[in-house]
Amino acid sequence: MAGEIGRKTEHWGSRFGFIMASVGSAVGLGNFWRFPYTAGENGGGAFILFYIICVLLIGLPLLMAEYAMGRKSGMSAIEGIQSLARAESRSQNWGVAGWVGSLTSFFILSFYMVISTWLMAFLIQSFGGFEGMDAASSGQNFVDTIGQGEHPMRSKWYMLGLLAVFLVANIIIVGRGVKGGIEKAATLLMPAFFIMLLVVVGFSIANGDTGKAVSFIFEPKWEDVGFKTFLAALGQAFFSLSIGVGLMITYGAYLEPDTNIPRSSGLIVASDTLVALIAGFAIFPIVFSAGLDPSSGPSLFFISMPVAFGSIPGGAIIAPVFFGLALFAAFTSSISLMEVAVSWLEERQGVTRLGASIGVGYVLFMIGAAYVFSLEYLDFMDFMTEGLLLPLGGLLASYFAGWVLSREMLTSELGEGTIMNAWRFLIRWFVPPFIFLILVFGFMDKIQDQYHVPLPGFLTMLLGPNWVPPAG
Ligand code: PHE
Repeated sequence: MAGEIGRKTEHWGSRFGFIMASVGSAVGLGNFWRFPYTAGENGGGAFILFYIICVLLIGLPLLMAEYAMGRKSGMSAIEGIQSLARAESRSQNWGVAGWVGSLTSFFILSFYMVISTWLMAFLIQSFGGFEGMDAASSGQNFVDTIGQGEHPMRSKWYMLGLLAVFLVANIIIVGRGVKGGIEKAATLLMPAFFIMLLVVVGFSIANGDTGKAVSFIFEPKWEDVGFKTFLAALGQAFFSLSIGVGLMITYGAYLEPDTNIPRSSGLIVASDTLVALIAGFAIFPIVFSAGLDPSSGPSLFFISMPVAFGSIPGGAIIAPVFFGLALFAAFTSSISLMEVAVSWLEERQGVTRLGASIGVGYVLFMIGAAYVFSLEYLDFMDFMTEGLLLPLGGLLASYFAGWVLSREMLTSELGEGTIMNAWRFLIRWFVPPFIFLILVFGFMDKIQDQYHVPLPGFLTMLLGPNWVPPAG
């Protein structure tokens, strides 16, 4: 089949549209749902510090590499990497770098759609207000809503209906193509999103406990820091920037030749990081003013926020805005996740874009129907993707870009000069080794932490005092 697949012919309609689509992909549940609780669990300011380091020194170079590889090859991740390997007379097996990423994006979407569905349910609920909720009743409300509580069957059909609505919306947008679907949706939704975000942050700072939020965000709790903190920060950076899954390679394939990749990448990274921090200022003041604990894990968003909205004056008005803006952000990310598979199917299997979208949506619905009510699946997938597959995908892609591809290969995309020199230095000597180290030690630290698996002695020494020897 080699050589039969051509370059993509579709392009982004404008640079603004491309930036909106990319920011739309990057800004999502990662910023609202995942970032705050991950920071809460991993030492607050210390985590945020590592996070910013990971974003700048690993995320930015990798994002540039993905766009460059995408535009150079003009194809989606798997085919694109294979064609670049061919051009350098290297093994086709490098395609595995694309495969890992593409599968990861599918796994992510398989739980992303479920959390988005919860978001829809909470948005609908928020119109009725959350008055009088305490943590216990909110917890009960959460399990009832997602179909695990007292009336699981009733809410199961409801949730499956919402899931179907969400997927159909994805199919429609992705099916309409890059310019007419994804770009258009992002250029409409993202500006609305930013306005809503400012409204919520303004409200939150004015009415919440901002002092506590500031000290939480900026004061590092070093005692909570371990190797798994680095892994958490790295995984979060990849997740939030939508890198390591081949998506940005695919988005790069639709780029016009005159779009400046380094500059656009910088803008996208800056916007995503800013939104994560601003989201922190939207969420933490409210959480603290309601006397809740920010380290309560994935449920922070769905259990704490309703309680907080129920207790704060004006909360009834701001709650729908809050869940609405999170849903906008989640939707522009899920369409991008779906695009990875659709764009590959379209170029490889000769199906139409709409056909491919319907097929992918159907498979997702079946997966969703089987586990939509299993929090264990979500936990496991979240851990597998952020803790293992995303860093692995990033490791392979950065190694490929830095060591397999020649410098000349990407000068047409990244130019020559200081930026190229810095990029090439980082992508060869910093990014792959750093990801590798964090991955190995962080993964072991985390496994040990969660499952109390015994580790070899020398690792115990390296992992430091936090490590507790297994009993027996
Ligand atoms: N970046 C998205 C978020 O933060 C999630 C995502 C990951 C989207 C990978 C696309 C690819 O929610």
